[in-house]
Amino acid sequence: MRVLVIGSGGREHALVRALAADPDVTSLHAAPGNPGIAEVAEVHPVTPADPASVTALAAGTGAGLVVIGPEAPLVAGVADALAEAGIPCFGPGRRAAMIEGSKSFAKQVMTAAGIPTAAARTCTTGAEVSAALDAFGPPYVVKADGLAAGKGVVVTSDRATAAAHASACGTVVIEEFLDGPEVSVFALADGERAVTLLPAQDYKRALDGDAGPNTGGMGAYTPLPWAPPGLADEVLSTVILPAVAELGRRGTPYTGLLYAGLCLTAAGIRVVEFNARFGDPETQVVLDRLATPLGGLLHAAATGGLAGAPVPRWRPGAAVAVVIAAEGYPGTPATGDHIEGADGPERVAGAYILHAGTAVAADGSLVSNGGRVLNVVGTGRDLAAARSAAYEAAGKIRMRGGWYRSDIARRPAPAPSPARP
Ligand code: AMP
Ligand code: GLY
Repeated sequence: MRVLVIGSGGREHALVRALAADPDVTSLHAAPGNPGIAEVAEVHPVTPADPASVTALAAGTGAGLVVIGPEAPLVAGVADALAEAGIPCFGPGRRAAMIEGSKSFAKQVMTAAGIPTAAARTCTTGAEVSAALDAFGPPYVVKADGLAAGKGVVVTSDRATAAAHASACGTVVIEEFLDGPEVSVFALADGERAVTLLPAQDYKRALDGDAGPNTGGMGAYTPLPWAPPGLADEVLSTVILPAVAELGRRGTPYTGLLYAGLCLTAAGIRVVEFNARFGDPETQVVLDRLATPLGGLLHAAATGGLAGAPVPRWRPGAAVAVVIAAEGYPGTPATGDHIEGADGPERVAGAYILHAGTAVAADGSLVSNGGRVLNVVGTGRDLAAARSAAYEAAGKIRMRGGWYRSDIARRPAPAPSPARP
C-alpha cells in the first residue's frame, strides 16, 4: 500500500514513523513534511488546505490511502475532494469535521445524541453574553465558536476578562465549568463502527504546575495508571458511538479519527471538546505503544472496513512526550534558531526525537521553524522510566531560547482540573 500523510508537525512525524513500521506500507510520502519526516518518507511540497493540490499529489504518488493530520485541510474539504477522486482518505469530510470546526455545531450533535457535556449557550450579542455569564457564574468558560488552534478558550474567575474575550470573538459558546482531570480518548471511525485507542493525558498550559497560558499541548503520557478501568469502553459506548451514529443520521458519516477531550468530573464523564484528527502531542505517545500495524487500521477505517480489522493491541510499558518550544511560544515564536543534539536518537536508551516546527537552513543546519519545535519521546517499563528517558534526552538538546515543562508525567494522578483559574 502506498500512503500519503498530509501535515508537518510532531503528530505527522509520529504517524509517518508508525506507518513506516507497517510491513504492508510499501511506499510512504508526506507533504509538506519536515526534516524529521524526510528521513522516513519522501516529502513533497503542497498547500495542505488546498483540496485540488492535495488530490493532484495523491494521484501523482499513486496513494492508496491519504492520512490527513491537521484540522485545517479537513475543514477546507480536502477529504471530500479525495472521495470524489476515489482515493481512500483517513479523515472526515468538511461537514463532519465541523464537530471540531464549530463549538456550537458540536454542542448540537451532543445534545441530539444525548452525549454528556457541559451545559452551554451560544451567544452573539453583549446582552446574551451577560445573561449567560450570570446564569453559569464563575469560573467562567468562554469559547470562540470557530477554529482557534487551541487558543480560543478563556477560563477565568474575572467577569470583565470573560466579557472582553467574548466581545473580541464575536460568536462564542459560554458554558458550565467542569472540574476534574482531563483525558484524551481517540477513536478510529469508519462511518458506522469505531474502536478506541489507549487513553492519554496531555498538558495544555505552558508552564509547570499548569500555570501560564493555554497552548497546543506541552507534553503527554500514556497509559494512565489512575484512570478507572473500562474508561475507553465507557467512552466508546457513551460518547464515540452516539456521535458517529448522529453524524451518520445527518447524512455526514464520520470517517477518520474522532478525538474526545474529556473531563472526569465527580458526576461522571463529560465531553470538553471533540477534535476531528489525532491530538498533538498525545498521538506521539499513543502510537508509540501501538503493536498493531497502523496502515491496515487506518485503511480499514477509511474504507468502511473496521468490522474486518484487527482490534488494536498495545505493547506493555509507557511513553512520555516532552515538547521543546521556541522562545515566545504560545505568542509569536522566534524562528531560525539552531538546534543541536536532535540527531543521534540512540544516544539515550529508550528515547527518540520527533520533529514538529523544524527546517533546514541554507547552510544545511537544523533550525527552529515554529512554536512547538521538537517532541522528545521517552519509553520504558513504566511511566517513571519513560519520563526519565525523555528528560535525559531533552537535556541534551541545545537551542537558543528553547524551553520545556519539567513536570510532564511527574505526578500521573487525577490532578485537579488544569483549567482551574
Ligand atoms: P477546548 O478548546 O474546548 O478543548 O478548551 C481548551 C481547554 O480549556 C480545555 O482543555 C480545558 O482545559 C479548558 N476548558 C474548556 N472547557 C472547559 C469547561 N467547560 N470547564 C473547564 N475547563 C474547560
Ligand atoms: N493536545 C490537544 C490537541 O491536539 O488539540
